[in-house]
Formats: sequence, C-alpha cells, structure tokens
Amino acid sequence: MNTITPHHDLDHLPDTERRDFLTQAASMLGIAVSAGTIITLVNACEQPNTPSGNTGTVNLASETALQSVGGSVRTTINRAQLIVVRVSQTQFVALSALCTHAGCGVNPPANGIIECRCHGSRFSVTDGSVLNGPATMPLRNYPTSFNSATNILTITLS
Ligand code: FES
Repeated sequence: MNTITPHHDLDHLPDTERRDFLTQAASMLGIAVSAGTIITLVNACEQPNTPSGNTGTVNLASETALQSVGGSVRTTINRAQLIVVRVSQTQFVALSALCTHAGCGVNPPANGIIECRCHGSRFSVTDGSVLNGPATMPLRNYPTSFNSATNILTITLS
C-alpha cells in the first residue's frame, strides 16, 4: 500500500521521492474531487432546481385550470419548476416538475398519477410519492397555504 509522507519530511527527500509524493497527492486529490462531484450531481438530480428561503404565489383568479378540483398547472416560480394541483376546494399540492430519477420533466397529472416523460417513473399526485420506478425518491412536495378570501395560493419554496 502506498503511503504519503508528511509535509515536514519533504525537504529531506530526493527529487524522485518528492515527485512520487506529489503524484500520489494529486492522485488522491483527484479522487476526492471526483467523489465530491458525484455527490453534487446526485443531490442535483434528487432536488433539482430548488431555490431556498423564499415563497411564491399563484393568483387563482388568473389560473383558470386551478379553479376546479382536479385541475393543475405547470408553472415556474423563482426558477423552481412546479406542478400545482387542486386536490380539494381548499387544498393544493405543489410538486417539483422535475423527476428525481434523472431530472426530466414530468407530464401533467392524469387519473391521480404524474408520469415522467423519459423512463416512465410514476408519482402520486397527492404527495409526490413514487408509485413505480426507476425513480426511488418522491417528487419534492412544497408546503402550500390557500387564502380563499383573496384567492391567492402561497407556496413555500425553501
Ligand atoms: S428521468 Fe424520470 S424516470 Fe428517468
């Protein structure tokens, strides 16, 4: 097994050993960067395009599709791509419109199911949970609150 000489011993090494040390260090650094990149990509796929610390609103007066139960719209709020569904007179679900498998856009809901365009993963419209893979993670489900007096739906994106 290769070992890396501690920094304070480098000055006493011949050039060939110093070169070997630097090669090993660069190799290990390369591995660390690759692992970090993979983790970043996995996180990006599982929680795609999600800003934090903010809210968005949907005015139902101008979103006719959400004026009846079962209606849905695809919208983008602060760069978050969402599917918003009216599940009852007073309840709404706001789900990420990007599949957790590989980040493809999902289709509008049909018969209570949201299906991914790319590889056919299926998600529940009521909470984004996985009904069929290959996705294993649910669609992100953003909290919502509806003010019936103003007809404004507020979606918390953080
Ligand atoms: S990206 Fe959605 S199932 Fe593959």
